[in-house]
Amino acid sequence: MIFHVLTLFPDMIQSAASASIFGRGIKAGHITVHTVNIRDFSANKYNRVDDYPYGGGAGMVMEAEPVYRAVQSVMKEGRRPKVIYLTPQAPVLTQTKVEELAAEEELVLLCGHYEGIDERVLAEVADEYISIGDYVLTGGELAALVLMDAVSRFVPGVLHNEESSQFESLQDNLLEYPQYTRPEVWHEKAVPPVLLTGDHKKITEWRHAQSVQRTRERRPDLYEKICSTYVVFNGPENAALFAETLNEKLSRYGMLLNYNRNKLIRAKRVFTARDFAVFVIEDEAGAMTAFRNISGTDTPAAVILSGTEKPGEAFLHFLEKKGFAVLYTENTAEEDFEGEVSRICLEIRRQMDSL
Ligand code: ADE
Repeated sequence: MIFHVLTLFPDMIQSAASASIFGRGIKAGHITVHTVNIRDFSANKYNRVDDYPYGGGAGMVMEAEPVYRAVQSVMKEGRRPKVIYLTPQAPVLTQTKVEELAAEEELVLLCGHYEGIDERVLAEVADEYISIGDYVLTGGELAALVLMDAVSRFVPGVLHNEESSQFESLQDNLLEYPQYTRPEVWHEKAVPPVLLTGDHKKITEWRHAQSVQRTRERRPDLYEKICSTYVVFNGPENAALFAETLNEKLSRYGMLLNYNRNKLIRAKRVFTARDFAVFVIEDEAGAMTAFRNISGTDTPAAVILSGTEKPGEAFLHFLEKKGFAVLYTENTAEEDFEGEVSRICLEIRRQMDSL
């Protein structure tokens, strides 16, 4: 991943970026941070890059031309990486957005100062505006560092196995469960006994419950968005393998339902509005038979047709009649299996975030 940071304070970026795990990622060659000093592109003999605002008012505005030239300087050889302007006047960065940005090979991060940047150059060069929170910083540099740090955790090689980012707090709109290490009793407080049992199933259930409770108490806004994901599949091996991989990537606590099994096919199952159902199928007619006892309650859903055809109208109509709101449909080709799962996963997560 290459980050081009356009800033008036390149030292601030380079010194912060050289520390800790992020710095290790740079040393190992997984990340490159290329800083561009906007002042180097000043058209003025005093190297000035700001001027008074038209219409009056406090503060100075960064001029269009130096910013434009600085952006052009990183757009060489026909490359056109996404340009992000860090500003509090924008949607706040989320974990889904971080993951989406990590799929890019290069990003250009534009840091403003003073009272902002001339609107005309922003309209020409910025592809996206991102804020890191509802407060105002003195400049975009700290915001760029936050964004780069969060994105770098998804860059292959940056985190070691034990630090792996596959399962994230926040990925399921859930806060992380509490952690404990030795000693077993500290200040008369004992570690929760379930963690000492060695029973992995029980531990996972306990951690999930703790995550849900913590989210409800500390972040009621996220709690409202929690949904249980179900990957429901029917069809031969291709569909099964795709469904398994998708389920693992989509959610730490996702459920995989194999509708090739008679026991499941015969049982009645009603999904709620707080569930998200992802149907992975290969043959529409077969799937409609297998899913005959399933129904939704305005349940958001996605349909993935394994193979090359688009999911047909008949299957979508069938799901809608059964109470599902299909928000996303996709068909999968078999080449680049991993890339496909990641892309679909991200799209489903985006749909969940927007519920
Ligand atoms: N620049 C100033 N404040 C900011 C914020 N909250 N997010 C992103 N960029 C900023």
